[in-house]
Amino acid sequence: VTTSAGDPTKYTRALKDAGLTVFHVVPTLRAAQKAVDAGVDGLVVEGGEGGGFKNHREVSTMVLLPLVRDRLDVPIIAAGGICDGVSMAAAFALGAEGVQMGTRMVSSLESPIHENWKNAIVAAPETGTVMLKPEKGPALRALRTQRSERLEREPNTAMFELGDGVRRVYFEGDLEAGVALSGQVAGRIEAIVPVADVIARTVREFHETVEALAKNHLER
Ligand SMILES: Cc1cc2nc3c(=O)[nH]c(=O)nc-3n(C[C@H](O)[C@H](O)[C@H](O)COP(=O)(O)O)c2cc1C
Repeated sequence: VTTSAGDPTKYTRALKDAGLTVFHVVPTLRAAQKAVDAGVDGLVVEGGEGGGFKNHREVSTMVLLPLVRDRLDVPIIAAGGICDGVSMAAAFALGAEGVQMGTRMVSSLESPIHENWKNAIVAAPETGTVMLKPEKGPALRALRTQRSERLEREPNTAMFELGDGVRRVYFEGDLEAGVALSGQVAGRIEAIVPVADVIARTVREFHETVEALAKNHLER
């Protein structure tokens, strides 16, 4: 089970007592330490470039991952900015044992979200998301639209304005009806492909990348 966006002391013990393996999603070193103290088996270490709910004080995967790796001795799944074998190799170099893809999977062929959202991810440049930081409630990273740009300028936006219209966004493809959670990595996603292809290509590229690094940097 992965738990996220809350206090790890709340459910970890009960889940562990039920015989489950528990990973908690963390956006900072402090949160990571708290989760480990609560007894989790591992961490999903997620940088602020990722899509979805975020810490108001976002830290990039590049900074957060090696920091947590250095201080804590539990298995780590990296998240935020990963969509292929190159980014997976980078995450492994920074200390992860696994990776989690959000935006890449949301825009896969099998994903149940509306085509309009998938196409908007494919069309998005690397600057195509905004970070919404309402005064009350968690921050969110979402696709840049007229609505999300307006909400970005209005920090006192009520949480319901962010959550409102979510069904119309997900299943009717009206991206102005709410916010379409997505990460900066949308800028690197160029096609809607089946999940099996994403995974096969990622594993192949990961091996090619590690081999090329070893060849270019270790051969005497
Ligand atoms: C549409 C969408 C919905 C998400 N919902 C959740 C959620 O309910 N709980 C959660 O822990 N993470 C959620 N996430 C975050 C992902 O699980 C993942 O960690 C994140 O997207 C990784 O960053 P990436 O988008 O750069 O791949 C969501 C992400 C997206 C894009």
